[in-house]
Amino acid sequence: MTYDFRIAAADTTTMYRDLASALEGLVTGEPDAIANMANAAGLIYETLPDVNWVGFYRNIGGELVLGPFQGRPACIRIKFGEGVCGAAAVTRQVQRVEDVHAFPGHIACDSASNSEIVVPLIRDGELIGVLDVDSPKHARFTEEDEAGVVKLGEILSRVL
Ligand code: SME
Repeated sequence: MTYDFRIAAADTTTMYRDLASALEGLVTGEPDAIANMANAAGLIYETLPDVNWVGFYRNIGGELVLGPFQGRPACIRIKFGEGVCGAAAVTRQVQRVEDVHAFPGHIACDSASNSEIVVPLIRDGELIGVLDVDSPKHARFTEEDEAGVVKLGEILSRVL
């Protein structure tokens, strides 16, 4: 079986709607969290324009540990409160950063990254981890992107 998700939508809202339904299709009925994170990273990386890293950090005993991703090899462990991912973990708030170089404590895994969005993944009040999407473009992520990526996070929180 092949998965051919070439989502070429006319506008951002439609693109995120198609992406969300493709993601639902990929993860529904699959209980393995690693398989679901791996396919989600691949799907999001292939679909969103101008991204250079898409992946997961998992909450392992109060530390963020690298999970499945697409892009260059990345830092393995991030403490809560460190960098953009750590800020998302501590505050449990989406971090949408226009210029990562101006973000206090930003961890530069790939020097090509200039903007970033990190969505906390929460289920039953527990922080499961974060979904991190990086871009080489400054201010790549708009409010519309935030709404779209948050929706992807909601789908994922149920199956991780
Ligand atoms: N930039 C992130 C670190 C993770 S990587 O970019 C993959 C941060 O400051 O949280």
